[in-house]
Amino acid sequence: MYNEIDLDKIDINSEPPEKEPDRQYYFMAKCRKWVKDFEQKNGRLPKAFVLNMGCQMNARDSEKLKGILLQMGMEAAEDETADLVLYNTCTVRDNANQKVYGRLGYLQTLKKKNSHMKIALCGCMMQEPEAVERIRKTYGFVDLIFGTHNIFKLAELFFQCLVDSAMVVDVWDSTDKSVEQLPTERKYFFKSGVNIMYGCDNFCSYCIVPYVRGRERSRPSKEILKEIRELAKDGVKEVMLLGQNVNSYGKNLAQEQICFGQLLRQVNEIEGIRRIRFMTSHPKDLSEDLIAAMRDCEKVCRHLHLPLQSGSSRILKLMNRRYTKEQYLELVERIRQAMPDISLTTDIIVGFPGETEEDFLETLDVVRKVRFDSAFTFLYSKRTGTPAASMEEQVPQELVKDRFDRLLKEVQRISSQVCMRDAKTVQKVLVEDENDHQKGYVSGRLSNNLLVHFPGDASLIGQIVPVELVEAKGFYYIGRQQSGSDAG
Ligand code: SAH
Ligand code: SF4
Ligand code: F3S
Repeated sequence: MYNEIDLDKIDINSEPPEKEPDRQYYFMAKCRKWVKDFEQKNGRLPKAFVLNMGCQMNARDSEKLKGILLQMGMEAAEDETADLVLYNTCTVRDNANQKVYGRLGYLQTLKKKNSHMKIALCGCMMQEPEAVERIRKTYGFVDLIFGTHNIFKLAELFFQCLVDSAMVVDVWDSTDKSVEQLPTERKYFFKSGVNIMYGCDNFCSYCIVPYVRGRERSRPSKEILKEIRELAKDGVKEVMLLGQNVNSYGKNLAQEQICFGQLLRQVNEIEGIRRIRFMTSHPKDLSEDLIAAMRDCEKVCRHLHLPLQSGSSRILKLMNRRYTKEQYLELVERIRQAMPDISLTTDIIVGFPGETEEDFLETLDVVRKVRFDSAFTFLYSKRTGTPAASMEEQVPQELVKDRFDRLLKEVQRISSQVCMRDAKTVQKVLVEDENDHQKGYVSGRLSNNLLVHFPGDASLIGQIVPVELVEAKGFYYIGRQQSGSDAG
């Protein structure tokens, strides 16, 4: 629906409008003129490649970036052999940054072969002044740098790049507005992320996200519901409500009194939407009301990602997580009482400063007690500017590695048992893709997010179909489609 604006009707010889998003549509129209000239000169459309390097929030931003570029008339490229390469970066752990520096070397060789090529970097890593400084100094061939707060400005900034040969850098420290009414290019026609809030105020002591994403800002529920209704009309069946801590949704909304549980109930009413997911839930803010809303709303998927980070109350305190081991376990208990079939997944950090063997054993203990369906395990990564970076007693690398391996083994052992509990039953599967590895198979997800592969063709993509889970493979199933349609 956002794509209905006719760029050709915009007078690109007049002054740019001040108001957003009109200003961006004006620059999209100017870029489209450049696209047409490019096509005439080169006999082909200019190609753009957007690479998402971060979390679901970044993935959603990447869809918006892609939407703007396609609206300009550029063609989507499958890899970096393109005329514009845009990396949407992450900086949550140092290896994310190293990946960017590594790839920049490769981009430089590509740029030498393609004189049209523009290289742009945006996203969380660009909010760090040290990273921008290093790129300015060492990677002078980069054309454009912008941050997380002004992704909506892509058209304007790209246009500036076309007329100006110097590196364009536009990174904002913060923002209090969000510009939403812009084109987006969804990766899947049947599912979509929906931002319900931006930023984070939790300041977990190891985490850089609050510094690069800014203060927590909830979107008014009216706007969110309108967006989801439009998505439903457009064929979307599954929405993923996105925020760094969705459980605190609404807390800072001046104009209305609403909490996340209430929002879930309202989304549940929207016709056409069949599945609702959300990410991420902070244990400290997971209320009784939310548990009840999850239980009552039939469209809310039976999956909860509930990051633990550590099982040691002492470390949790140092991490500024604001819950104890016992509170976490008790919360899991309450969730399971309300929804016995729920699948629980988590994030765990190993090697936080000062973590002892005893602390680590507490983490293993929680893993064994909760029996997570799966867990993302991370080596602690020191992030400059966070309180944990200046904590003494950073744990030696060999110890961290050893604990990490032990944890991973335990997580995988439990996961392979827990995940397979639905074997031999018939479950609804939302079909997502044709299977890359096995011809004649499609892949889809259960309500609890597990993957199922079963014989079928592309016509099933986007449908929710009953599938018998014939064979349990540890982390996924092989299934067989049952008769029955997508309805209901
Ligand atoms: N807002 C989400 C997390 C976003 S970051 C939440 O609170 O759950 C995703 C995960 O990255 C975190 O859950 C944490 O486990 C991990 N992480 C964040 N900072 C890290 C660091 N400095 N080192 C290692 N892992 C980190
Ligand atoms: Fe980082 Fe904590 Fe915010 Fe999650 S809740 S983004 S871990 S500061
Ligand atoms: Fe990374 Fe930014 Fe997400 S730092 S984890 S992409 S919010």
